[in-house]
Amino acid sequence: MSAVTQDHKPDAPQEAPLRSEGSTVPVWLIVLLALVGYWALLQLNDHGGGFQPHVYGPYASVGQQIDAWPVIGVDLNKGRKVFETYCQACHQPTGLGMPGQFPPLAGSDWVANPSPNRIIRIVLNGCTGPITVSGKSFNNTMLPWKDTLKDDEIAAVLSFVRGNKDWGNSAPIVKEAEIKAIREKIKDRSTSFTPDELLKLGDGE
Ligand code: HEC
Repeated sequence: MSAVTQDHKPDAPQEAPLRSEGSTVPVWLIVLLALVGYWALLQLNDHGGGFQPHVYGPYASVGQQIDAWPVIGVDLNKGRKVFETYCQACHQPTGLGMPGQFPPLAGSDWVANPSPNRIIRIVLNGCTGPITVSGKSFNNTMLPWKDTLKDDEIAAVLSFVRGNKDWGNSAPIVKEAEIKAIREKIKDRSTSFTPDELLKLGDGE
């Protein structure tokens, strides 16, 4: 066809400047980052335990914990059964509960509290009213279990919940004697607890 004229060749693309003014990284910053990185490596080397699972806790999963229950001193297998029978309908097999209805036990700040005195009361007498669990709000009612579950069963289920590594929990076990002591302390109380009054209790009270 017709000859293509060379007259209207598009302009060659502008050559991008190799480096824009003012964007250089100062040498001191590079040195500082290198030093921080070196320090972090030393920290990991000295305190990281070589990333060996046994360094971080004797049991890597609930299965292993259950196998070891005579050593732990609480029957976690019984705890799992109690949980499956009485708790998981609401708190779910995952321990995550249901948004807006049932609070989670997995990652719960109530469950993780070093002293189990508040959650023992919740299980014994039930709990009603507004509660914030790990930053999420709920306002519902959990019925009491004191007439259904014995001290050893409550100790077992709370130990199972608190130490459940599959849920990311790692709080210490709860002993039967702790349930017994609190059951005795609140024996004249028939109504459920409210989260507000439980929060006023000191640890261990
Ligand atoms: C019928 C549903 C239901 C069942 C069954 C139930 N819970 Fe709850 N649980 C709740 C609700 C609802 C709350 C929050 C109550 C409130 O809003 O004041 C709660 C709160 C809790 C809390 C404190 C808050 C948190 O999420 O950490 C613990 C601990 C707990 N339950 C453990 C148990 C255990 C252990 C069992 C089994 C023995 C159990 N629950 C059975 C509904 C239930």
